[in-house]
Amino acid sequence: MSSHIPHILVTEPIPEKVTSYLKEFGKVTVAPKGTYGSEEKLIEDIKNYDALLCMLSTPVTAKVLAEAKQLKVVANFAVGYDNIDVSAAHSHGIKVANTPDVLTEACGDYAMGLLLALSRKFKEAEKYLREGRFNGWEPLGFLGMELRDRTLGIIGMGRIGQSFAYRARAFGMNIKYHNRSRIAPQVEQQLKATYVEDHKELARNCDVLSLNCPLNNETHHLVDKALLESMREHALLINISRGAVIDESALANALHNRTIAGAALDVFEEEPKVHPQLLSAPNTLLLPHIASATHKTREAIGMLAAEAITSVLQGKPDTEIPNLIRR
Ligand code: DGY
Repeated sequence: MSSHIPHILVTEPIPEKVTSYLKEFGKVTVAPKGTYGSEEKLIEDIKNYDALLCMLSTPVTAKVLAEAKQLKVVANFAVGYDNIDVSAAHSHGIKVANTPDVLTEACGDYAMGLLLALSRKFKEAEKYLREGRFNGWEPLGFLGMELRDRTLGIIGMGRIGQSFAYRARAFGMNIKYHNRSRIAPQVEQQLKATYVEDHKELARNCDVLSLNCPLNNETHHLVDKALLESMREHALLINISRGAVIDESALANALHNRTIAGAALDVFEEEPKVHPQLLSAPNTLLLPHIASATHKTREAIGMLAAEAITSVLQGKPDTEIPNLIRR
């Protein structure tokens, strides 16, 4: 009798602890970075695998899944899973999991860091110093926006939106938010957060707009020319969700025309490409999608994704598989 050894594909190098753990359950192939950035190679290779641990940059499309003859589970090394065609996976009986919770605090810290860096012009000021232009303390140099009593508008008040809100409250900011549904009353109370039913109204009336929503048909290009034009001239925009929530050319124009005062972007529509006009935009912080990048969090993300895989491979019931996405 031959017992099948499950074959697990990990699409990029991940923390060693996770790979070692997976090796207890099957044969593990870790692909070099960049191997599966587009669907072609995955379409070719996927038939050989029982489980896929993929990155948010791995396009797990309907075409890929149609070739996945022995695949049982896709676990995304991320909380966002817009890179996976979940309906197609389910139609082939393939389970899909993501990694919520473990990255909440890292992302909350990071959003707060972006806001501080942007509102106090860290990037420009440091460049000025490095260029040898710092000739002494200046009363009018690099004046920024103080956070106390300013309004932070959050679109997407899930775990990460809330963790940013808690931090911003500690800095004395007022919190307004838009979400598919209202958050629990006790959390609203703790955060002294006001629910705004219309995201456009929220954008018009805040000093900082933060995007913390998933990317889907409703949120694609939610921040467009009209929304940007309705924002306050001194307003700042922060995006750690997904690039395509913003129409990037509209944002680049708004920044160049000073329609809004600045933006901090961790994510881009065509990652890793960055819109060329964003690269030259004033008061714009551009970071390479690192909101969850701490040692602790990346290891926890990996372990959670790996546990979803091993639970499926062991034939556990759905209720015992961590973070299965159901639709
Ligand atoms: C995720 O996990 O979806 C985030 O993009 C991390 O930054």
